[in-house]
Amino acid sequence: MEPFRIKSVEPIAFTTRSERDEVLRTAGYNQFKIDADKITIDLLTDSGTGAMSSAQWAALLTGDETYAGARSFRRFEQVVTELTGFSEVLPVHQGRAAERLVLSCVLKPGQVSVSNTHFDTTRAHVELAGGRAVDLPAPDGGNIDIDDLRAQFATDSVACVVLTVTNNAGGGKPVFMQNVRDTRRVCDEFGVPLILDAARFAENAYLICQREPGYANSTPRAVAEEMFRLAHICWASLKKDGLGNIGGMIAMNDAELAARCRIELIAYEGFPTYGGLAGRDLDALAQGLLEVTEPHYLRYRAEAASWFGERLIDVGLTVLQPIGCHAVYVDAGPLFPHIPVHQLPANALTCELYLEAGIRVSELGTLGFSRANPDGGPDLPAARELVRFCLPRRVYTRSHLDYVVQAAANIVKRADTVPGYRIVEQPNALRHFTARLEPIR
Ligand code: F0G
Repeated sequence: MEPFRIKSVEPIAFTTRSERDEVLRTAGYNQFKIDADKITIDLLTDSGTGAMSSAQWAALLTGDETYAGARSFRRFEQVVTELTGFSEVLPVHQGRAAERLVLSCVLKPGQVSVSNTHFDTTRAHVELAGGRAVDLPAPDGGNIDIDDLRAQFATDSVACVVLTVTNNAGGGKPVFMQNVRDTRRVCDEFGVPLILDAARFAENAYLICQREPGYANSTPRAVAEEMFRLAHICWASLKKDGLGNIGGMIAMNDAELAARCRIELIAYEGFPTYGGLAGRDLDALAQGLLEVTEPHYLRYRAEAASWFGERLIDVGLTVLQPIGCHAVYVDAGPLFPHIPVHQLPANALTCELYLEAGIRVSELGTLGFSRANPDGGPDLPAARELVRFCLPRRVYTRSHLDYVVQAAANIVKRADTVPGYRIVEQPNALRHFTARLEPIR
């Protein structure tokens, strides 16, 4: 059960089927263009959408808004240093700002960044810094493939290795401690920094306790502390396991690199003791970083996700396994065998969930993740037509998720009547955020 009681509530919106038809048509059949007041259950992302605890709300009121040397920063710095073991702590407004600052300092044009899987903003910042992002996931979908990593050093000038914990683009699977240790050994051998993208570090630690031999009796806190200490640098979006609505951080021990990052920080984010955040945000994040490794909370988080995923399997959906903590990933391909990939089956499922019950989920199929064709022809489809049902932290109860399962069951029953989609308008880059589509009747 949820290990909290609800003290403050927000009403959710209910709409009629004919209203949703109209909303979706006006939105160009793109989930990103639907307004919040037309959505009943929003599973678009777990980023910045969580509920803060009463202790976090209290921390907001004691926030110190001093420009330089704020008390709030010192509290944040102390919490991050205790968690990570890193003495240099830089706050930023969100994860992608951290990626930009660090990558512009560690990567030279022509160099390569290697990862289990770069998140899409990370990949964008590698490319903006003039580098190339290479993903080398192991077959389990969480770890990096150590043999492939070694081989990469033989062929390319590698600037850094980024381990994304958990692997969001790969289904939310954990990176195991042994894999971090092995990666660190390779990094030390070749003298390049190991960077942890720690957006979901606490969930990763919980999954290690559950699944990695030798960790069954460890606490998630101890596992997280051990993992941070194996890295040279970490960056994190604190909109996930920081339990905040905004925020991010960079931490390391390398004082010289930190000094270079701080110059960029001042130019783009703000003075190094606030980094684009309000003092009160830093206080709420410090409190969030203490709460997020609480074992009862993490157990609820993981069990809610697996309960939800199992129910979706029961009603006939194909779910990526094993299920992680922050989301359930559904493959829309097997559900809609009559919709060819160029007619965007994953987008069809997102639209159908909205039409059925006002539920919003995100498309990780060919609309968002088609790939350039190395032979120069039309883009290649995504490897799978995935749809992510993402769970905001401490927001929805089991009966909300039951409502989603019911809607999914209704769609499965009439799956063969669901139409494919064609794109009628799209920008040059990042098309899934703004494209307009229409159903093919
Ligand atoms: N790294 C990972 C693993 C992420 O999942 C995200 C964001 C970022 C970096 C970037 O952080 O949004 O604070 O700038 N993921 C969100 C999502 C957007 O929906 O998965 P940010």
